[in-house]
Amino acid sequence: MTPSPARAFTLLGIETSCDETAAAVVRRDADGKGTILSDIVLSQIEAHAAFGGVVPEIAARAHVEALDGVIRAALADADMRLDDLDGVAATAGPGLIGGLLVGLMTARAIAAARDLPLLPLNHLEAHALTATLTDATALPYLLLLVSGGHTQLVAVEGVGRYRRLGTTIDDALGEAFDKTAKLLGLPFPGGPNVERAAREGDPTRFALPRPLKGVPGADFSFSGLKTALRLEAEAHAPLTKKDVADLAASFQAAAIDVVADRTRSAFSSFAMIVGALPTALVAAGGVAANMALRERLTTLCRDAGIAFVAPPARLCADNAAMIAWAGAERLAAGLPPDPDCPARARWPLDADADPRVGAGRKGAKA
Ligand code: KG4
Ligand code: ZN
Repeated sequence: MTPSPARAFTLLGIETSCDETAAAVVRRDADGKGTILSDIVLSQIEAHAAFGGVVPEIAARAHVEALDGVIRAALADADMRLDDLDGVAATAGPGLIGGLLVGLMTARAIAAARDLPLLPLNHLEAHALTATLTDATALPYLLLLVSGGHTQLVAVEGVGRYRRLGTTIDDALGEAFDKTAKLLGLPFPGGPNVERAAREGDPTRFALPRPLKGVPGADFSFSGLKTALRLEAEAHAPLTKKDVADLAASFQAAAIDVVADRTRSAFSSFAMIVGALPTALVAAGGVAANMALRERLTTLCRDAGIAFVAPPARLCADNAAMIAWAGAERLAAGLPPDPDCPARARWPLDADADPRVGAGRKGAKA
């Protein structure tokens, strides 16, 4: 793993693991500075809204239809031709297999046609490295990844060196927000609508459980909270606007309490494993856009003397700039790409982490 002699890399990134069709061009200078030259994200929200969640077949078909145009737009925005690139990076997993195949095969075709290196990448690694692009955050840091498919605390020790300290044993946090929204009759995607409703509500009206709070380690659980919320909602049906706001606020307060507790516990796990406190806590994933969560984490980090880094919401959510950037970081670190890497629905970032047997997400992004 010898780093290549310092040089700049410009990569095309492609992201199709869930319901965003995305392409971006990013340059990494020899000194490690990153520049996003273009960043196109086409959301499929409308295609899935009627179903209250992402339908894998619809997602795959929508990626096929949109991807060529999205890539063309990303190149045009960056004022680049394929021949100006140093490589093509694409998400190979984890995610919905149909969409992954569309993105990876398209990247493979472009790489073969232009004789460029192909970099199949782990989507979680791209989330993990975003802070080095947006904030030049120094390693090692603690990553809190909270999205619709993932809820993890990961020690990011270096490019290609990740240790999972905790994960959810059932639902992902974003999934819990989405299910809460559905239960309360709020529109898809649930997270932002629950946050909006919660702003008008009383977070103390319903005493909802805080699963795993205070338990050693840094694992999460949200299914008990979801069930408790459902029972309260059923007991108060039909729900008034105030009931919905109070339930949303009570759910959000409980969820954030759990995240803060698990994150604090992960500071100790991190120190034990890495030998020092993290330089920073980095939030990533769609739920990191939640302002109440950001405020709570800001306080938590201030009290612990650790910097809190929250990249712009657009780069916390799924995008292709993070894919291109992760590819460039790997090239700069001298990590050889594996062009034969297949698309993988499941792909843990830390291969040594214990599998959560008998529990955990059964969904496509588990
Ligand atoms: O990272 P992301 O764009 O896609 C993946 O799931 O990989 O995350 C989407 C998730 C959804 O569950 C959405 O409801 C949630 O992030 N989300 C939020 C907020 N904005 C998005 N959850 C809570 N509060 C928000 N403001
Ligand atoms: Zn994601």
